[in-house]
Amino acid sequence: MTVAICPGTFDPVTNGHLDVIERAASIFDTVIVSILVNSEKRTLFTTDERLEMLRMACGHLPNVSVDHFEGLLVDYVRARGAHVVVRGLRAVSDFEYELTMALMNRKLDPTVETMYIMASQEYSFLSSSIVKEVARLGGDIRCMVPAALADRIIARCKGEG
Ligand code: PNS
Repeated sequence: MTVAICPGTFDPVTNGHLDVIERAASIFDTVIVSILVNSEKRTLFTTDERLEMLRMACGHLPNVSVDHFEGLLVDYVRARGAHVVVRGLRAVSDFEYELTMALMNRKLDPTVETMYIMASQEYSFLSSSIVKEVARLGGDIRCMVPAALADRIIARCKGEG
């Protein structure tokens, strides 16, 4: 059974994340989407909120589960009995960041392989940061985040929820 880990901050999950998760779920037997808990990084949503939102967003995918981790990704991957990390690539601008992470993770544990899935072109401009900024400034983000989460994300970005 092939288990893939999809790690990230997911603050909040976007349709771009979901696109990559769905593609991974169609390739691997099991996909574990895991939120990095990093006390040094300020997030708009708490870990529990991000877990809940990801669970809602992935509810239609039976082979996807949602989890969180602290510390090194490679240690977590090993602890979950996996060898594969899946990340999404949107544009060339992602490459340098992703290459650095993949090579560092390989140095730390050569048995962990990072694989990349191209996000759909329609999501190539999407990031959690840009969605938060647009929502805060009153722009329409409804087509950029899972429908069931849109009101909640908009309210939080506007400081209302
Ligand atoms: O969604 P993000 O913020 O781009 O995800 C980054 C993430 C969580 C995948 C990355 O920061 C990570 O794996 N952090 C865990 C700490 C770690 O293992 N660092 C060394 C390898 S870069």
